[in-house]
Amino acid sequence: MTPGINPETVKAFQERIMAWWAENARDLPWRRDPSPYHVLVSEVMLQQTQVSRVVPKYIEFMNVFPTIESLASADTRQLLLVWSGLGYNRRALWLKEAARAIVQKREFPQTIQDLQELRGIGPYTSRSILIFAYNHDLATIDTNIRRILIASGFANECITEKELQEVADQLLLRGRSRDWHNALMDYGSLVLTSGATGISPVTKQQCYEGSSRQVRGAVIRALTCADEVELDELKSLLDCDVEDSELKSIINGLVSDGLVEVTTNRYRIAK
Ligand code: ADE
Repeated sequence: MTPGINPETVKAFQERIMAWWAENARDLPWRRDPSPYHVLVSEVMLQQTQVSRVVPKYIEFMNVFPTIESLASADTRQLLLVWSGLGYNRRALWLKEAARAIVQKREFPQTIQDLQELRGIGPYTSRSILIFAYNHDLATIDTNIRRILIASGFANECITEKELQEVADQLLLRGRSRDWHNALMDYGSLVLTSGATGISPVTKQQCYEGSSRQVRGAVIRALTCADEVELDELKSLLDCDVEDSELKSIINGLVSDGLVEVTTNRYRIAK
Protein backbone atom coordinates (compact mmCIF):
# COMPACT_ATOMS: atom_id res chain seq x y z
CA MET A 1 0.00 0.00 0.00
CA THR A 2 1.04 3.61 -0.57
CA PRO A 3 2.53 5.12 2.63
CA GLY A 4 -0.19 6.72 4.75
CA ILE A 5 -2.88 4.54 3.21
CA ASN A 6 -4.02 1.65 5.36
CA PRO A 7 -7.33 -0.11 5.85
CA GLU A 8 -8.37 2.31 8.60
CA THR A 9 -7.64 5.50 6.65
CA VAL A 10 -9.35 4.04 3.60
CA LYS A 11 -12.46 3.12 5.56
CA ALA A 12 -12.64 6.50 7.30
CA PHE A 13 -12.30 8.31 3.98
CA GLN A 14 -14.94 6.19 2.30
CA GLU A 15 -17.34 6.71 5.19
CA ARG A 16 -16.81 10.46 5.22
CA ILE A 17 -17.44 10.80 1.48
CA MET A 18 -20.48 8.51 1.45
CA ALA A 19 -22.04 10.15 4.52
CA TRP A 20 -21.74 13.53 2.82
CA TRP A 21 -23.13 12.13 -0.41
CA ALA A 22 -26.16 10.55 1.27
CA GLU A 23 -27.32 14.12 1.98
CA ASN A 24 -25.92 15.99 -1.00
CA ALA A 25 -26.03 13.85 -4.15
CA ARG A 26 -26.78 15.82 -7.32
CA ASP A 27 -29.78 14.69 -9.31
CA LEU A 28 -28.28 14.49 -12.79
CA PRO A 29 -30.41 13.15 -15.65
CA TRP A 30 -27.96 10.45 -16.81
CA ARG A 31 -27.88 9.04 -13.30
CA ARG A 32 -31.61 8.30 -13.24
CA ASP A 33 -31.28 5.38 -15.65
CA PRO A 34 -27.57 4.70 -16.16
CA SER A 35 -27.98 2.38 -19.14
CA PRO A 36 -24.85 1.88 -21.25
CA TYR A 37 -26.30 4.13 -23.98
CA HIS A 38 -27.16 6.92 -21.54
CA VAL A 39 -23.74 6.69 -19.94
CA LEU A 40 -21.92 6.65 -23.28
CA VAL A 41 -23.67 9.82 -24.46
CA SER A 42 -23.29 11.67 -21.16
CA GLU A 43 -19.62 10.77 -20.76
CA VAL A 44 -18.77 11.95 -24.25
CA MET A 45 -20.68 15.18 -23.62
CA LEU A 46 -18.88 15.64 -20.29
CA GLN A 47 -15.42 15.15 -21.78
CA GLN A 48 -14.87 18.84 -22.34
CA THR A 49 -18.06 20.55 -21.28
CA GLN A 50 -19.19 21.42 -17.78
CA VAL A 51 -22.08 19.65 -16.11
CA SER A 52 -24.41 22.68 -16.05
CA ARG A 53 -24.14 23.06 -19.83
CA VAL A 54 -24.44 19.34 -20.48
CA VAL A 55 -27.68 18.81 -18.51
CA PRO A 56 -30.11 20.60 -20.90
CA LYS A 57 -28.29 19.27 -23.96
CA TYR A 58 -28.41 15.72 -22.67
CA ILE A 59 -32.17 15.97 -22.07
CA GLU A 60 -32.72 17.38 -25.55
CA PHE A 61 -30.46 14.73 -27.09
CA MET A 62 -32.38 11.89 -25.44
CA ASN A 63 -35.68 13.34 -26.63
CA VAL A 64 -34.44 13.33 -30.20
CA PHE A 65 -32.32 10.14 -30.07
CA PRO A 66 -33.84 8.00 -27.33
CA THR A 67 -32.10 4.76 -28.31
CA ILE A 68 -28.73 3.72 -29.62
CA GLU A 69 -30.46 2.59 -32.83
CA SER A 70 -31.94 6.06 -33.35
CA LEU A 71 -28.49 7.59 -32.94
CA ALA A 72 -26.92 5.02 -35.26
CA SER A 73 -29.31 6.08 -38.03
CA ALA A 74 -29.33 9.79 -37.15
CA ASP A 75 -29.42 12.40 -39.85
CA THR A 76 -26.05 14.19 -39.52
CA ARG A 77 -27.55 17.66 -39.87
CA GLN A 78 -30.08 16.97 -37.16
CA LEU A 79 -27.36 15.45 -34.97
CA LEU A 80 -25.17 18.53 -35.32
CA LEU A 81 -28.14 20.79 -34.66
CA VAL A 82 -28.85 19.03 -31.38
CA TRP A 83 -25.15 19.04 -30.53
CA SER A 84 -24.70 22.76 -31.17
CA GLY A 85 -23.56 24.55 -28.05
CA LEU A 86 -21.51 21.61 -26.82
CA GLY A 87 -18.61 22.33 -29.16
CA TYR A 88 -16.25 19.83 -30.76
CA ASN A 89 -18.68 18.64 -33.44
CA ARG A 90 -16.27 15.82 -34.18
CA ARG A 91 -17.36 14.23 -30.93
CA ALA A 92 -20.96 14.05 -32.16
CA LEU A 93 -19.88 12.34 -35.38
CA TRP A 94 -17.70 9.86 -33.47
CA LEU A 95 -20.59 9.15 -31.14
CA LYS A 96 -22.81 8.28 -34.08
CA GLU A 97 -20.01 6.11 -35.50
CA ALA A 98 -19.73 4.34 -32.13
CA ALA A 99 -23.50 3.79 -32.03
CA ARG A 100 -23.40 2.24 -35.52
CA ALA A 101 -20.55 -0.08 -34.56
CA ILE A 102 -22.32 -1.18 -31.38
CA VAL A 103 -25.67 -1.73 -33.13
CA GLN A 104 -23.92 -3.75 -35.82
CA LYS A 105 -22.19 -5.96 -33.23
CA ARG A 106 -25.46 -6.23 -31.26
CA GLU A 107 -23.43 -5.95 -28.09
CA PHE A 108 -22.24 -3.06 -25.98
CA PRO A 109 -18.45 -3.27 -25.38
CA GLN A 110 -17.64 -4.34 -21.84
CA THR A 111 -13.88 -4.07 -21.61
CA ILE A 112 -11.51 -1.11 -21.62
CA GLN A 113 -9.84 -2.49 -24.75
CA ASP A 114 -13.08 -2.89 -26.72
CA LEU A 115 -14.34 0.53 -25.70
CA GLN A 116 -11.07 2.17 -26.71
CA GLU A 117 -11.47 0.81 -30.23
CA LEU A 118 -14.26 3.34 -30.66
CA ARG A 119 -13.09 6.73 -31.87
CA GLY A 120 -13.40 9.43 -29.24
CA ILE A 121 -13.26 6.97 -26.33
CA GLY A 122 -9.91 7.14 -24.54
CA PRO A 123 -8.64 5.60 -21.30
CA TYR A 124 -10.64 7.93 -19.04
CA THR A 125 -13.97 7.61 -20.85
CA SER A 126 -13.69 3.84 -21.25
CA ARG A 127 -13.17 3.41 -17.51
CA SER A 128 -15.97 5.85 -16.73
CA ILE A 129 -18.39 3.95 -18.95
CA LEU A 130 -17.61 0.63 -17.26
CA ILE A 131 -17.97 2.26 -13.84
CA PHE A 132 -21.18 4.21 -14.43
CA ALA A 133 -22.94 1.72 -16.71
CA TYR A 134 -21.81 -1.58 -15.19
CA ASN A 135 -20.55 -0.72 -11.70
CA HIS A 136 -17.25 -2.45 -12.50
CA ASP A 137 -14.68 -2.36 -9.72
CA LEU A 138 -12.40 0.12 -11.45
CA ALA A 139 -11.10 3.50 -10.37
CA THR A 140 -10.86 6.51 -12.65
CA ILE A 141 -9.44 9.96 -12.05
CA ASP A 142 -10.70 13.25 -13.42
CA THR A 143 -9.59 16.68 -12.23
CA ASN A 144 -12.19 16.66 -9.43
CA ILE A 145 -11.06 13.32 -8.10
CA ARG A 146 -7.39 14.23 -8.36
CA ARG A 147 -8.07 17.39 -6.36
CA ILE A 148 -9.92 15.45 -3.65
CA LEU A 149 -7.11 12.90 -3.28
CA ILE A 150 -4.54 15.67 -2.92
CA ALA A 151 -6.65 17.86 -0.61
CA SER A 152 -7.39 14.83 1.58
CA GLY A 153 -3.70 14.08 2.03
CA PHE A 154 -3.46 10.92 -0.06
CA ALA A 155 -1.16 12.47 -2.64
CA ASN A 156 0.72 15.67 -3.38
CA GLU A 157 0.56 17.87 -6.44
CA CYS A 158 3.72 16.31 -7.92
CA ILE A 159 2.33 12.80 -7.99
CA THR A 160 2.59 10.99 -11.31
CA GLU A 161 -0.49 9.68 -13.09
CA LYS A 162 0.54 6.09 -12.42
CA GLU A 163 1.03 6.66 -8.69
CA LEU A 164 -2.26 8.51 -8.46
CA GLN A 165 -4.03 5.61 -10.15
CA GLU A 166 -2.57 3.27 -7.50
CA VAL A 167 -3.91 5.54 -4.77
CA ALA A 168 -7.35 5.69 -6.38
CA ASP A 169 -7.38 1.88 -6.76
CA GLN A 170 -6.70 1.48 -3.04
CA LEU A 171 -9.42 3.94 -2.04
CA LEU A 172 -12.14 2.48 -4.28
CA LEU A 173 -15.33 1.49 -2.47
CA ARG A 174 -15.52 -2.00 -3.93
CA GLY A 175 -18.92 -3.22 -5.04
CA ARG A 176 -20.20 0.37 -5.22
CA SER A 177 -17.93 1.85 -7.82
CA ARG A 178 -20.75 3.77 -9.53
CA ASP A 179 -21.90 5.42 -6.30
CA TRP A 180 -18.31 6.01 -5.22
CA HIS A 181 -17.39 7.92 -8.38
CA ASN A 182 -20.64 9.87 -8.40
CA ALA A 183 -19.97 10.81 -4.78
CA LEU A 184 -16.38 11.89 -5.48
CA MET A 185 -17.42 13.94 -8.50
CA ASP A 186 -20.12 15.68 -6.46
CA TYR A 187 -17.77 16.30 -3.54
CA GLY A 188 -15.12 17.74 -5.86
CA SER A 189 -17.62 19.97 -7.65
CA LEU A 190 -19.47 21.20 -4.59
CA VAL A 191 -17.04 21.11 -1.65
CA LEU A 192 -13.38 20.64 -2.55
CA THR A 193 -13.48 23.00 -5.52
CA SER A 194 -10.31 24.39 -7.04
CA GLY A 195 -11.11 27.74 -5.40
CA ALA A 196 -11.53 26.12 -1.98
CA THR A 197 -8.38 24.01 -2.22
CA GLY A 198 -6.02 26.12 -4.36
CA ILE A 199 -5.14 22.94 -6.23
CA SER A 200 -4.69 23.44 -9.98
CA PRO A 201 -5.39 20.92 -12.72
CA VAL A 202 -2.47 18.72 -13.59
CA THR A 203 -1.38 20.36 -16.80
CA LYS A 204 -0.36 23.84 -15.83
CA GLN A 205 -0.12 26.04 -12.78
CA GLN A 206 -2.79 28.69 -13.11
CA CYS A 207 -2.56 32.26 -11.94
CA TYR A 208 -6.29 33.03 -11.96
CA GLU A 209 -6.39 36.84 -12.11
CA GLY A 210 -2.66 37.05 -12.75
CA SER A 211 -1.62 39.34 -9.93
CA SER A 212 2.09 39.09 -9.18
CA ARG A 213 1.27 37.34 -5.91
CA GLN A 214 -0.56 34.66 -7.89
CA VAL A 215 2.27 34.33 -10.39
CA ARG A 216 4.67 33.86 -7.44
CA GLY A 217 2.43 31.07 -6.14
CA ALA A 218 2.26 29.38 -9.53
CA VAL A 219 6.06 29.59 -9.95
CA ILE A 220 6.59 27.98 -6.56
CA ARG A 221 4.12 25.20 -7.32
CA ALA A 222 5.69 24.56 -10.73
CA LEU A 223 9.21 24.44 -9.26
CA THR A 224 8.10 22.18 -6.45
CA CYS A 225 7.39 19.41 -8.95
CA ALA A 226 10.39 20.05 -11.18
CA ASP A 227 14.08 19.60 -10.37
CA GLU A 228 15.64 22.54 -12.11
CA VAL A 229 14.25 24.38 -15.08
CA GLU A 230 15.25 27.08 -17.51
CA LEU A 231 13.03 30.12 -17.97
CA ASP A 232 11.31 28.72 -21.08
CA GLU A 233 10.59 25.40 -19.40
CA LEU A 234 9.23 27.23 -16.39
CA LYS A 235 6.97 29.28 -18.62
CA SER A 236 5.63 26.11 -20.22
CA LEU A 237 4.61 24.88 -16.76
CA LEU A 238 2.62 28.05 -16.09
CA ASP A 239 -0.77 29.03 -17.39
CA CYS A 240 -0.20 32.70 -16.63
CA ASP A 241 -0.55 35.72 -18.83
CA VAL A 242 2.79 37.28 -17.90
CA GLU A 243 5.55 39.01 -19.84
CA ASP A 244 9.10 37.61 -19.65
CA SER A 245 10.31 40.79 -17.99
CA GLU A 246 7.65 40.59 -15.27
CA LEU A 247 8.26 36.88 -14.76
CA LYS A 248 11.99 37.53 -14.38
CA SER A 249 11.34 40.25 -11.86
CA ILE A 250 8.99 37.95 -9.90
CA ILE A 251 11.67 35.24 -9.91
CA ASN A 252 14.28 37.76 -8.75
CA GLY A 253 11.97 38.59 -5.87
CA LEU A 254 11.70 34.89 -4.97
CA VAL A 255 15.51 34.61 -5.18
CA SER A 256 16.05 37.56 -2.86
CA ASP A 257 13.50 36.11 -0.45
CA GLY A 258 15.59 32.92 -0.39
CA LEU A 259 12.79 30.73 -1.82
CA VAL A 260 14.33 30.08 -5.21
CA GLU A 261 17.95 29.74 -6.33
CA VAL A 262 19.56 30.21 -9.72
CA THR A 263 22.34 28.01 -11.09
CA THR A 264 23.60 28.64 -14.61
CA ASN A 265 20.33 29.96 -15.94
CA ARG A 266 18.34 27.24 -14.22
CA TYR A 267 15.89 27.82 -11.41
CA ARG A 268 15.04 25.57 -8.52
CA ILE A 269 13.54 25.69 -5.05
CA ALA A 270 16.29 26.82 -2.65
CA LYS A 271 17.85 23.92 -0.80
N1 ADE B 1 -17.85 14.23 -15.37
C1 ADE B 1 -17.61 13.13 -16.09
N2 ADE B 1 -18.49 12.18 -15.80
C2 ADE B 1 -19.32 12.68 -14.87
C3 ADE B 1 -20.42 12.19 -14.19
N3 ADE B 1 -20.85 10.97 -14.44
N4 ADE B 1 -21.01 12.97 -13.27
C4 ADE B 1 -20.55 14.20 -13.07
N5 ADE B 1 -19.52 14.74 -13.70
C5 ADE B 1 -18.90 13.99 -14.59
